[in-house]
Amino acid sequence: MSRPIQARIDLSALKSNLRVVRRLATSRIMAVIKANAYGHGLLRAAEALDEAEGFALLDVRDAIALREAGFRQTILLLEGFFTADELPLLAEYELSTVIHSTQQLAMLDAYPRRGSLSVWLKINTGMNRLGFAPEQLPAVMEKLKSHPAIGEVTLMTHFAHADEAEGVAEQLERFKGLTAAYRAPRSLANSAAVLRYPATHAEWVRPGIMLYGASPFADTSAQQLGLQPVMTLSSEIISVRELKAGDRVGYAGLFRADKCMRIGTVACGYADGYPRQSGRVEPEAPGTHRPTPGGYAPTGTPVLVNGQRTSTLGRVSMDMLSVDLSEVSGAEVGSPVTLWGNGMPVEEVAAAAGTISYELMCALTARVPVEY
Ligand SMILES: Cc1ncc(COP(=O)(O)O)c(C=O)c1O
Repeated sequence: MSRPIQARIDLSALKSNLRVVRRLATSRIMAVIKANAYGHGLLRAAEALDEAEGFALLDVRDAIALREAGFRQTILLLEGFFTADELPLLAEYELSTVIHSTQQLAMLDAYPRRGSLSVWLKINTGMNRLGFAPEQLPAVMEKLKSHPAIGEVTLMTHFAHADEAEGVAEQLERFKGLTAAYRAPRSLANSAAVLRYPATHAEWVRPGIMLYGASPFADTSAQQLGLQPVMTLSSEIISVRELKAGDRVGYAGLFRADKCMRIGTVACGYADGYPRQSGRVEPEAPGTHRPTPGGYAPTGTPVLVNGQRTSTLGRVSMDMLSVDLSEVSGAEVGSPVTLWGNGMPVEEVAAAAGTISYELMCALTARVPVEY
């Protein structure tokens, strides 16, 4: 007997989503497994994604853990090395590194070893986050080509709008123009570009979110894209009560019943990673809400109870949240609750909370037992 919350990770769904990438792109696949594989568990996710030709992540320690676990694929550090003392580790564990800054180039210059370090040169084509400016590219390429520690150079960029109507055209054209003179593998596509822009696929695609079964698009569901949810966060009802009109629920009494209703308390709260800022952002709904000073009423995030769709009520607490059971048949203490995942798209929950599926998955906390 223990607290009933649990995250179930469906590894066969992860494999199935990888096959969707494979069907869409003939490129090599660099599976993005940063942030503990978007909250799904680094090593377990990597095992399920073993057919990918590469893994991309941030932390050199995670990269070493993958090597030590026996993965032979390309392993890419997406932000490269942060300090010079990581350079010998890259060589020792045959890790590929992004280079995006002159500071990294200076560290490389001071690195005495010869070798064949695989470098992914990041070019800023409009995201303005990481990467060399277009005008720096010729000199940087020259330097890398003649550097005794460096082997293959891959050219990469990252899209800012692939998931939006604006699309990739401007960045893609810029990248193509900048890199036309070089013979080198190229990598541009995140999930949204894998799904919508075949012209970006090039030698390597870098899908993340679609592998975990969530859609990167606001206007297209994961199901429509043929993706299966990988993480299902579930729990149970641990208390049930009846409210009379006028009764309020939870901290600050942010939900007020305007009629008799039946509600349940679920063993899941923000200390599990459920967003506290969940619920529709709306002005006062007469008779039901007492809005916060910002006019924000955290009510109405979708949730499944007994497989039936209902919604959260009032403010999410650290360990619990309240749900409306008035229309849920057979709901009682012990009834199963799906917070997101199978049957309750994480994107919908994220949208209700004013965030994105990426954040919810990554925010799952260590106290939630994970079952594979
Ligand atoms: C450089 C880079 N490539 C690829 C990805 C994967 O993006 P997505 O999860 O949207 O597919 C990310 C994620 O943010 C990234 O930072």
